[in-house]
Amino acid sequence: MGGNRIQVGIVGAGPAGLLLGHLLHLNGIDSLIVENRSREYVIDRVRAGVLEQGTVDLLQAMGVGDGLQQAGLRHEGLHVSFRGSRHRIDLAGLTGGKAITVYGQNEVVRDLIDARTATTRPLHFEAERVSVSDLDSSSPVLRFQHGGAEHEVHCDYIAGCDGFHGICRPAIPEGVLTVYERIYPFAWLGILSEAAPSSEELVYTYHDRGFALFSMRSPKVTRLYFQVPPDEPIEHWSDEAIWTEMLERMTTQDGWQPNVGRIIQKSVTPMRSFVAAPMRYGRLFLAGDSAHIVPPTGAKGLNLAASDVLVLARALKAFYQHGRTEWLQEYSDVCLRRVWKAQRFSWWMTSTLHRFPDGHAFDHQRQLADLDYLTTSRAAMTSLAEQYVGLPADVSFESAGLTD
Ligand code: APR
Ligand code: PHB
Repeated sequence: MGGNRIQVGIVGAGPAGLLLGHLLHLNGIDSLIVENRSREYVIDRVRAGVLEQGTVDLLQAMGVGDGLQQAGLRHEGLHVSFRGSRHRIDLAGLTGGKAITVYGQNEVVRDLIDARTATTRPLHFEAERVSVSDLDSSSPVLRFQHGGAEHEVHCDYIAGCDGFHGICRPAIPEGVLTVYERIYPFAWLGILSEAAPSSEELVYTYHDRGFALFSMRSPKVTRLYFQVPPDEPIEHWSDEAIWTEMLERMTTQDGWQPNVGRIIQKSVTPMRSFVAAPMRYGRLFLAGDSAHIVPPTGAKGLNLAASDVLVLARALKAFYQHGRTEWLQEYSDVCLRRVWKAQRFSWWMTSTLHRFPDGHAFDHQRQLADLDYLTTSRAAMTSLAEQYVGLPADVSFESAGLTD
């Protein structure tokens, strides 16, 4: 049995765990990251791809922004399409020059794994039987099997960065957490296609047949989604049927439509809003998807994971450098203020742009009026723009040991 001590045990090598590990490293704080999947699985997993301005700034301030700088696509606007017309929202013009960057989450994860590997600090893939215990003691324990050996690591703190289906949140005793949840009566069917994007910016479409979204991953790869019933089996959709539906929903009166190409990946993603509060129990801190899920319509998931770990890194730095614990105490409250605003925004975008199966004719007209207002009122566009490029994290980079 390998016995051990570490300052911070991190469960999960998704964006939250890897970003936290690197922020701690930059502050000279030890961590151990354990991940139950393989390196290839974690990198290849297809996820969202929109980074808020603040997430881009954070990656750059952390010194892990080179790939992003080279391959990221900066978008200064987006389009909202309904009744057959596209309307542009000038994100940069309405926010004093802020933008979003399209860069696949799997690229972000690959860059962070490379950065972690370069630090030589431990990152164990394919760990088995990962568990956490003694969370309300002064030395919580992280146990796992790796490389044929049992490991028992005593930590000062544990960060639960293990996503929605992880083991950390369920390790919190019954009755501690309040769960807020909404499940939507639809899912997204998403594809990656070998086709040059036919628009330089994203197009969010509200159509009589349901929501559709045009996005991209690179100058050669288009990423598209449309709304389907929940739990829709992907086998029900041939490539041909996917293209017919996609073009039907997306083609606008001026003839704009996505370029068609070979489909290289397809999957169905369920939609939910979820928050577990508080994001802390004893010496366990939850960050990212382990504490909250947003429906993908506002592309906020990865960005919330990034702001959570910035708040956590600030608190751990204050503890290790000055013995101060107030920021650890405040962690959950500070995160949740931003999380709830992103929840509200993601719910609003989802509710405005999707057809609800039991929706009334009244709701359909109201949604169209909402979109008409959104695309003609500068105030409404400004509100969307400032939320889309990302509301502030309430925590300075400097307080987490970075230069702004
Ligand atoms: N032990 C170790 N690792 C685990 C365990 C476990 N028992 N269970 C899950 N994990 C790992 C997962 O394999 C995954 O790599 O934890 C990681 C969690 O990563 P993500 O699910 O990516 O969550 P997070 O890091 O919070 O990133 C936020 O933003 O775009 C959204 O949902 C999207 O992944 C996304 C997220
Ligand atoms: C994506 O490119 O995967 C994407 C873009 C915008 C969203 C969701 C997903 O709102």
